[in-house]
Amino acid sequence: MKLIDGKALANTIKEEIAVEVTALKKAGGKTPHLAAVLIGDDPASAVYVRNKVKACEKVGFKSTLVRRGAETTEAEVLEIVKNLNEDPDIDGFIVQLPLPKHIDEEKVNLAIDPKKDVDGFHPMNVGRMALGLPSYLPATPFGIMQMLDRYDIETSGKHCVVIGRSNIVGTPMSILLSRKAKVGNCTVTLTHSRTKDLKAETLRADIIIAAIGRPDYLTADMVKEGVVIIDVGINRVDDASRKRGYRLVGDANFEGVAPKSSFITPVPGGVGPMTITSLLMNTLKSSRKEIYG
Ligand code: GUN
Repeated sequence: MKLIDGKALANTIKEEIAVEVTALKKAGGKTPHLAAVLIGDDPASAVYVRNKVKACEKVGFKSTLVRRGAETTEAEVLEIVKNLNEDPDIDGFIVQLPLPKHIDEEKVNLAIDPKKDVDGFHPMNVGRMALGLPSYLPATPFGIMQMLDRYDIETSGKHCVVIGRSNIVGTPMSILLSRKAKVGNCTVTLTHSRTKDLKAETLRADIIIAAIGRPDYLTADMVKEGVVIIDVGINRVDDASRKRGYRLVGDANFEGVAPKSSFITPVPGGVGPMTITSLLMNTLKSSRKEIYG
């Protein structure tokens, strides 16, 4: 069993980005600039956004945080988006989700200029991804593709089972892994809550992407020897022995499945740290005009 160390890989990629940013600046180029929009006072969102801003500083990007209260209207958010779309210094930006209930997230998403959509959530980027055209990939799938690539995990001809069909993880993973590409060429089965016999599917899998959001869902009896497990789950379970009163666990029962696997991502320290690196990579791509020219 080999652990896929997402934390270490994320740091390596950040160092690589920092080197590129230094070279860019030395050559007189513009400093890549990421903006984040945070509306309301959801504590988890505030932490995520703070980590995104910190990561920008670490690699030498400029960052801007646009923070407004929970009473902000939809029209005001759309105005912020318009200003960021039009600001030539901003290479990319994200609007942190969830937004307060009175704001239509889809409307806001559609208002973002696809060229600056470094979250990869706009239908233009989702469509381009599905067609195999250059596009911004959403953070989690992009991070997973990086892990498979950098750990030289063979995907071609392998049977991959994706558990969960969300727009931001399961569905894009199923598309990316079936594409004709260096990391790709898998035969993919996308499973979800209506799948009849999940265990029959996972027992055939060479690679499992677990993205259901339920602790200990994937158990040892559901996987075959030598499987690669990518665990996307970040679930809180009560733990009185911890200062915080909880600990984080993935969707897989790590103790059970790890001995059977050839590669596995831990939780925490696996997929999670890679998501911020994806955002930085997308911002760098935008500043270099790699996707849209
Ligand atoms: N909320 C949780 N994850 C994400 C993400 O990747 N992007 C945005 N914009 N909001 C989120």
